[in-house]
Amino acid sequence: MPISLVRSATLAPTDYAYAAATGAGDRLLFLAGACPLDESGRTVGEGDYEAQAHAVVRNLTQALADGGASLRDVAFTRVLVASRDRGDLVAVWDVVRAAFGDHDVPSTLLGVTVLGYPGQLVEVEAVAALPEADSFADGGFSDPRLAALYDPLDPDRSDLDEYAAIAAELGVSSVLDVGCGTGTYPCLLAGRGLQVTGVDPAAASVDVARGKPGAEAVTWLVGDATTLPPMQVDLATMTANVAQVFTTDASWEATLTGIRRALRPGGHLVFETRIPEVRAWERWNKEHTFSSVDVPGTGRVETWNELLDVRGELVTFRGVVRLVDEDVTIPSVSTLRFRSREQIEASLVRCGFEVVEVGDTAYAPGRAWLFHARRTD
Ligand SMILES: C[S@@+](CC[C@H](N)C(=O)[O-])C[C@H]1O[C@@H](n2cnc3c(N)ncnc32)[C@H](O)[C@@H]1O
Repeated sequence: MPISLVRSATLAPTDYAYAAATGAGDRLLFLAGACPLDESGRTVGEGDYEAQAHAVVRNLTQALADGGASLRDVAFTRVLVASRDRGDLVAVWDVVRAAFGDHDVPSTLLGVTVLGYPGQLVEVEAVAALPEADSFADGGFSDPRLAALYDPLDPDRSDLDEYAAIAAELGVSSVLDVGCGTGTYPCLLAGRGLQVTGVDPAAASVDVARGKPGAEAVTWLVGDATTLPPMQVDLATMTANVAQVFTTDASWEATLTGIRRALRPGGHLVFETRIPEVRAWERWNKEHTFSSVDVPGTGRVETWNELLDVRGELVTFRGVVRLVDEDVTIPSVSTLRFRSREQIEASLVRCGFEVVEVGDTAYAPGRAWLFHARRTD
């Protein structure tokens, strides 16, 4: 689960949290003190505290990425500055603090006599915490029985009209749909003469997509945004809240980075994500979600959701599909992350996008944000 920062209502106001809590079962990453060294091992920014602080932040970010983490997974830092002058400590702190943005982790700042490398003035230690694995439990999209029922159980895809309208408005000719599932949107666009690629890690869903009328005009890939072949598309999309399946910062930012690579310079990215303040999960129970549908060839199918767990921004629920005629129940568990608008905007900027607009969705007014971003170059 994401680090949750603990603030104090009684202690002095500070620009860092007083404590950080990690989740049960998280994997802890203890990082060696990050040093201001270049690739050849030489100390950079001789005599310059701020320059060394920037180099340290760069190296810390890289070491975290090598461990599958990002600055947002850090639970604690210790900032060491070789100086007796408090002003030097503050100058270094300001650089490190700015790098963490709204993730104001608990920290210790201290002056020391000397640091290990020749000319070294700054070092930052960190501990990060990561869920054991990206906790997306695939929600049944890779189960062939559930993949075959996805469209019959959710036939109203008016949510896709908005995406199609944006593609038309932007006048794009090539589109990459990430998390395409059973491929309704790629087929819709291909039917309008666009060149479309759909990618999804759930092979069973992609198989359903391949069997649809018009599917032969689409390039289908089993994979994700990090496994794409070279391409330069005008627009990338993630429809139906795909953005929420990425439960760790590392997997979300790897996806954004992969999408950026697949876009032409100035290319567009459009996706939606539910607004956390609406607390949609409070209605994810049998009473509010039960439906019963006759599916040709399968018979009566009942479905409902059961909320299992809410921890910080992570919501885990069970989708239940019951094939009444066969007396078979197929449960599947999903974990979704409800990120704040600020977090999403900041992650887009970090991954090389500018935010063009954050709008409402016509099919669920006030319940989800529709993000439109552009690749910056
Ligand atoms: C709610 S479905 C949406 C499917 C489709 N976009 C639609 O509009 O019907 C979420 C999809 O995200 C896919 N998904 C899960 N992990 C993913 C990942 N790492 N990269 C891309 N897609 C992923 C699932 O397999 C599933 O097809």
